[in-house]
Amino acid sequence: MLEKKDLEYFNYGKFENDKFWKRLGGKPNFKNKNILDFGCGHGSLCIDMAKDGAKIVNGIDLSDKLLKFACSNLSENYSSLEQNIIFEKKNLLNAQFNRQYDLIVTKDTFEHTTNLPEILDKFYDILKTDGKIYAGFGPLYNAYNGDHGRTQLRLPWMHVMLSEKFIVNRYNKNNKDKIYKIQDLGLSKYSFKEYLKIFKNSKFQIEYFCTNKSDHPISNIFNFLSKFEFLKEYFTYNIYCILKK
Ligand SMILES: C[S@@+](CC[C@H](N)C(=O)[O-])C[C@H]1O[C@@H](n2cnc3c(N)ncnc32)[C@H](O)[C@@H]1O
Repeated sequence: MLEKKDLEYFNYGKFENDKFWKRLGGKPNFKNKNILDFGCGHGSLCIDMAKDGAKIVNGIDLSDKLLKFACSNLSENYSSLEQNIIFEKKNLLNAQFNRQYDLIVTKDTFEHTTNLPEILDKFYDILKTDGKIYAGFGPLYNAYNGDHGRTQLRLPWMHVMLSEKFIVNRYNKNNKDKIYKIQDLGLSKYSFKEYLKIFKNSKFQIEYFCTNKSDHPISNIFNFLSKFEFLKEYFTYNIYCILKK
């Protein structure tokens, strides 16, 4: 039985998917492509790409709960796509892949992904020649809400202003599950500058790169402020990029 909350999130994903592709300059051609969705969550992007003609969409994630929803939803509501979609729990870095991919897509996952340089190296190995990564993610850690509310500090940018030691101690006083570092909250903690450096130092060519894509009214102010070098780190909230092998 699919939970209402999960179904609502899944259905909302369809609107988010359109925005994702728009912010990346438009949807690529999925026809007959092998695609990996890294951090597929509820699986809504996978369903859309399979509907658009992808041959195989392999959605991988680490969350048992989300994968269980994705699999049940596929068989209950999209059974005609069952031969095109594989949802599975896979830790990318030590996983074996029995196919090469034309495209790797990853939506709202890199802000949670530690060891990104190693992840990109693995992507390089499993992509076909000329294969591409389509990545869009945020909020970045140094943005006003970059802690995704997980530090429980409530005020914007507080997680950036306070020391990690203070945040960890405060969190541990109020929670049963103990943490030792910010990354234990499922956040990469990479700064905007670090992402840029990681992409530039990777084996990929950066084919497309843009930041601060949003339709929120306040985004215009943030976009303006992000143009000042000393404010860029704190007012750059997302990244959309295409990396080519
Ligand atoms: C914010 S959700 C986004 C899910 C989906 N892409 C979407 O846009 O709705 C981030 C997802 O990435 C997954 N994730 C985080 N780190 C991961 C990793 N190293 N490998 C696979 N999945 C990961 C999480 O379990 C979570 O489902």
